[in-house]
Amino acid sequence: MNIPKHIAIIMDGNGRWAKARGLPRVMGHAQGVEAVKKIVKSCVKIGVKHLTLYAFSNENWSRPDHEVKALFKLLEDFIDKEFKLFHENKIKFNIIGERQRIQKDVLVKMENTEKDTQDYNNLTLNIALSYGARQEILNAAKILAEDVLNAKIGLSEIDEKIFSSKLYTKGQPDPELLIRTSGEMRVSNFLLWQISYTEFYVTETLWPDFDDKELNKAIEEYNKRDRRFGGR
Ligand code: FPP
Repeated sequence: MNIPKHIAIIMDGNGRWAKARGLPRVMGHAQGVEAVKKIVKSCVKIGVKHLTLYAFSNENWSRPDHEVKALFKLLEDFIDKEFKLFHENKIKFNIIGERQRIQKDVLVKMENTEKDTQDYNNLTLNIALSYGARQEILNAAKILAEDVLNAKIGLSEIDEKIFSSKLYTKGQPDPELLIRTSGEMRVSNFLLWQISYTEFYVTETLWPDFDDKELNKAIEEYNKRDRRFGGR
């Protein structure tokens, strides 16, 4: 079976998972973290090299304060407790998104984890946090505009490769497979530049129930696709 080098996941359905059990939404997110741990381990096992998880979008800032706080607490606990997971499996931790909006002490912790794991190359784990693809693209356009203004680069030199190098995912291949859980058929401002030719797989399964069997199913389905990249 052909294993994608890069898999991106929109982890949706935590709230519905909790609601179905009469639990607070936050319990759904907590169970979502358990699914994250399982999937990270599965990806290492089967040889996926890059995994990008949509943990918190720019739009998610408008959720109730207590939910935002709870989500960041879960993320903080995840990096505190999963130290062993990163080091034993040589996982490079990387956050993508608008860092300046993240609470300072949590950001410092995350950036320390990035530094501690920067030389690992078994799996790059990108956590999209305070992330929006349009903002990412705008940001890249502004960096390049500034470079042109400062005569660091000529306008005609700007191509797709240079543009990509200004995105948060610089140096990483585009995802071959994008998975969305809980049945919604939307891209939700996720990796708009990077998913130009990505295969999209949607499952009804809610994120907390997503496991290695589900991942396998998605990869099997991906293997059945005829990828033509706009050609023939
Ligand atoms: C969408 O479910 C999910 C989120 C907004 C958060 C995803 C976060 C996690 C799984 C936990 C943190 C992750 C890491 C990387 C440790 P929803 O709340 O929109 O669900 P609903 O659509 O059913 O209401």
